Parts: sequence; structure tokens; C-alpha cells
Amino acid sequence: MAAQLRVGILGATGTVGQRLVAMLEGHPQLVVTAVAASDRSQGKTFGEACTWRLPGDMPSALRGLQVGSPQPPLDCDIVLSSLPADIAGPVEAQFAAAGYPVISNSSSHRMDDDVPLLIPEVNAGHLAMIARRPGRGGGFIVTNPNCSTIMIALALAPLQARFGVEAVVVTTMQAISGAGYPGVASLDITDNVVPYIASEEEKIERETLKILGRLDGARVRPAEFPLSAQCHRVPVVDGHMAAIRVQLGRKAEPGELRDAFTSFRGVPQELGLRTAPPCPILVRDEPDRPQPRLDRDAGGGMSITVGRIARDRVLSHRFVALSHNTIRGAAGAAILNAELLLARGYLRNDQ
Ligand SMILES: NC(=O)c1ccc[n+]([C@@H]2O[C@H](COP(=O)([O-])OP(=O)(O)OC[C@H]3O[C@@H](n4cnc5c(N)ncnc54)[C@H](OP(=O)(O)O)[C@@H]3O)[C@@H](O)[C@H]2O)c1
Repeated sequence: MAAQLRVGILGATGTVGQRLVAMLEGHPQLVVTAVAASDRSQGKTFGEACTWRLPGDMPSALRGLQVGSPQPPLDCDIVLSSLPADIAGPVEAQFAAAGYPVISNSSSHRMDDDVPLLIPEVNAGHLAMIARRPGRGGGFIVTNPNCSTIMIALALAPLQARFGVEAVVVTTMQAISGAGYPGVASLDITDNVVPYIASEEEKIERETLKILGRLDGARVRPAEFPLSAQCHRVPVVDGHMAAIRVQLGRKAEPGELRDAFTSFRGVPQELGLRTAPPCPILVRDEPDRPQPRLDRDAGGGMSITVGRIARDRVLSHRFVALSHNTIRGAAGAAILNAELLLARGYLRNDQ
């Protein structure tokens, strides 16, 4: 059996970082050997610095690991980053320049020309964008999309492939944990809906088109259909929801959309990657599903759930999608990217 790749987590004490730690416990190919966070946490053990906010206990193997600063060198082969966007940009570039493969949850590099914005089921071919320039010592950056974008692009992918997509209008209802910890103040979100999430609408609009774009040489030509997004923070702990209206490129019965969703599979399913769910898109036919509390953990949090598929009077069809924002929308997405990179030979455990 091949040796495990040693992983360093930047932002390990945060909402996404803790999910990464939890999901990597017992992983046969990846083992956490380094954790980094802010100067509030540096120098403490992970057990002292991290207030564990997931069910169950913090993995005991990490409790005594010393929290370092997010800068190279770090005792690891690859870096998983869940740093706030305002500091992730230069830090991730520094790690890549020092030769580390960086797999990031942050928005800083998602739109860079030589950085794949990956959903392995949708655009695994975009890995060809990775620049392995001489002098970089094997370092590069791969990103996963914004937590709402992942669900929207994943739902649109089979429709684009089978029917063509001409226009999309999205309204999101996003969970509080999407804002990290402590997130939105309880007095702002209890008994309330906030119709504003900074930069979120722009991220959904541009990231979705990059993911569904076509690879042209080593660059992506974004998909060209218009996409309009409106985002809302709602009093739900985990689980983002999106009401999606779509104009398809040809006439289709709602049952054909249902079939496109349920039969959709991608490279992770073909390769049997550990974190890949058997079915990336599940469909619920009950009139009142999907719901965050009932459906966010489908497929171990890695499947999205679609429901309410119907014709629409303005665009051609509509449906509702739901996904777990810190699993499929963040930590699970990054781990699936790492597994894809390993399977495709982009990662070695001797760098
Ligand atoms: N939450 C989600 O659903 C979600 C989904 C997709 C993507 N993301 C993205 O993932 C990233 C992390 O989000 P989060 O929700 O996990 O945030 P969070 O709960 O606020 O955690 C932030 C982490 O970054 C560390 N950090 C903060 N300032 C730092 C600094 N100046 N230097 C070094 N480390 C610093 C924190 O360490 P301390 O504990 O020491 O302060 C903590 O470990 C963000 O870019 C976010 O946009 C989040």
C-alpha cells in the first residue's frame, strides 16, 4: 500500500478547518501532520486552540499537534487551505511558489487563469489548466467553488449536457454556518432573513460560468448563458438551498430533467474515489422536499438533493436544490479534489 500523503491545514481551527479535520480522520491516503491558524492560536496545541464545534470529540491524534503560522515551510506534502479570503491570496501563492500543491476553499485564486475551479464530477478535465512552470518546484493551486456555486453548477451540469442551457435565475437561502464562526450575530438572524451576503451574488454568477466553461488549450472559455443570482441568509444552521429557474435549449418534459439528474455520474464515481457519493444528485419527489434538516446529510453530505422539478411560466423549467455547505460546499469538496489529484498523478508523497 502507498504511503499516506501528509496534509497541512491552514485555518484548521475554523468552521471549514474542523470539517476537514473530522473528514480526514481515518483517511487511507491522507493524514494531517500540520495545522496552522491565526496568531491567536499559534504556539498552542490544537486541543487548546480549537473549540471543537462538531458532534463527537476532536480526533485524539491531533489534540497535541502544535498550531503553526500559515507560512512555508510546513511539515506536510500538500496544503488544504480554509483561510479567510483577505489573507488566503498571498499565503496560498507563497505556498505554491515554495513547491506545495495547495487545495483551497477560499475565493482568492478561483478566477485565476492557471487555477482550476473544480467540481470533479463536472469539470475534471480543467486540471489541464495547472501550470507546472519550471522553478515552481511542483507547486500549484486548485480551488473548489463557493458553497452555493457548487450546488448550482452541479445541478446545471447534466441539464447543459443533455438539453443546453440558455438562461438561469437563482435565488438562494443560505445557512448561518456559511459565514464561518461566530458568523451572523444571533440578534440579526433569529426571527429574520437578511437579503445580503457580501460578494456572494457576483461569485455565483462568475464561478458557475467558469466551471461550466469549455477548455480551450490551457484556458477556460466561460459558458455564455446569462445567469442572475440573489442571495439571502436564513436562520438555518447548515444546508444551503437554491430555487433555480432555467431556460433550456430544447423542449423537455419534467421527467426528462429528473432522469438527467438521477443518472448523472462523473469521474469520481468512475474512479471510485473515497469521498465521492454513489449518486452526486438525488431527486426527492415529495412536494415539500428538499429541506435542510432532512436532506443536507444525504450521501454523507456529498450528494445534493433536487426537488420541485416543474415547468415554469417565465423560463422553461424550475426546481429547488439543496446541499451541505460545509461538506459538499467546502471540506468534502477540497478532499474530493485531493483524491482526484492523487488519482490523476498530480500529487506525490515524496515532494
Ligand atoms: N463556512 C462555509 O460554509 C464555507 C464554504 C465554502 C468556503 N468557505 C471559505 O473557507 C474559508 C474559511 O471559512 P470558515 O467558515 O471556516 O471561517 P472561520 O470559521 O472564521 O475560520 C477561519 C480560520 O482562519 C483562521 N484565521 C483567521 N484569520 C487568520 C490570520 N490572519 N492568519 C491565519 N489564520 C487566520 C482562523 O484561526 P483562529 O481560530 O486562530 O482565529 C480559523 O482557523 C473562507 O475563505 C470562506 O469563505 C467557507
